[in-house]
Amino acid sequence: MSDIFHPEDFIIRQYAIPPGLHTLKLSAEAPSNIALVKYWGKKAEAEQIPMNPSVSFTLSRSKTTTQASLNLKKHPEKAPHLTFYLDGEHKPSFETKIRTFLERIRPYAPFVWDYDWVWHSHNTFPHGSGIASSASGFAALAGLIMQLEEKIFGIRNNAFRRAKTSFLARLGSGSAARSVAAPAMIWGRYAGVKTATDWYAVPLPFALHPDFEDVRDTIILFEQGQKAVSSTQGHRLIHNHPFKHERIQQAHRHMDGLLEALRTGDWDTFGRITEAEALMLHALMMTSEPYYILMRPETLGFIQSLWNWRLIWEEQQHERPPVYFSLDAGANVHLLYPGHWHTRVMEWLHATVPDIMSHNAYIADSVAKE
Ligand code: PMV
Repeated sequence: MSDIFHPEDFIIRQYAIPPGLHTLKLSAEAPSNIALVKYWGKKAEAEQIPMNPSVSFTLSRSKTTTQASLNLKKHPEKAPHLTFYLDGEHKPSFETKIRTFLERIRPYAPFVWDYDWVWHSHNTFPHGSGIASSASGFAALAGLIMQLEEKIFGIRNNAFRRAKTSFLARLGSGSAARSVAAPAMIWGRYAGVKTATDWYAVPLPFALHPDFEDVRDTIILFEQGQKAVSSTQGHRLIHNHPFKHERIQQAHRHMDGLLEALRTGDWDTFGRITEAEALMLHALMMTSEPYYILMRPETLGFIQSLWNWRLIWEEQQHERPPVYFSLDAGANVHLLYPGHWHTRVMEWLHATVPDIMSHNAYIADSVAKE
């Protein structure tokens, strides 16, 4: 835990591929994650440095598994051949993104460029389930690359392996930095956690309170497919955003409150900050220049119903339901709640959004245990 690494520690200057490593097969898996305090905006685009710290729950049962076949290139001077399949389907558009990723990580993993690669990737979560596969996808790729590094250089210690996997994943997609361990990960420089850094994500510096050990994330799907404005474009709009300064300060305050809530088992504070963060993410989009909206009327209607339900329940049962929403950069709603509320949440969902529940929600992803 006390290990702190710098980018220089990850640079590889000299290496030789041993004769036994000309052809190999590797396999890695990585979980997705849902941010509680959101990463939105970059200090430096190519380096993927976040504007503010973030913390996420690891979605331990929503994983990407990727197998790789590597062959040492016949013509070392030529660029590597990259072939990517998702669920058996060839995806040339992913190959372009992966090539950019491999270029970014070249100083830290130059040996990757000695091979032609074929990847076969599968997600345990359904396509269009409201979980972006870029976080788990890039974290799985980073895991494969670390395996190759360890075959060339020998086994690294756990802290180094986790930090460098996260460091590499970050260069694929920022939120992928947090997809390397459970139950929760912090990414970005933050005074409350001395080991927290912009370069890679670190685990919580304390044990998660038992009341947060079986958190569920049920995603209510109001939309599937491509978003109107990508996250890459959204991050860029923060550069000249009128509320940028206040947003950075707020994220730090929210980190203080949220981490304290996770340590002490305070679901009320957890919920208040998680919902405020979700709304802030969308408020930033709505006040960007140009402005845009990714929520749908159904998203807002659902949030209102949730708030009403909580109020009525509290009035009648004298207990506040620990059921709170989060939003990603899209119209779908993530409901976060403890496992022992699952049946009641399902009953309420079936009564509130019956059409969606009959074919569209992606349910019950335990986040903390593993
Ligand atoms: O990792 P990116 O560049 O796709 O950005 C994702 C940002 C959010 O998912 C909206 C928030 C977060 O912290 O994951």
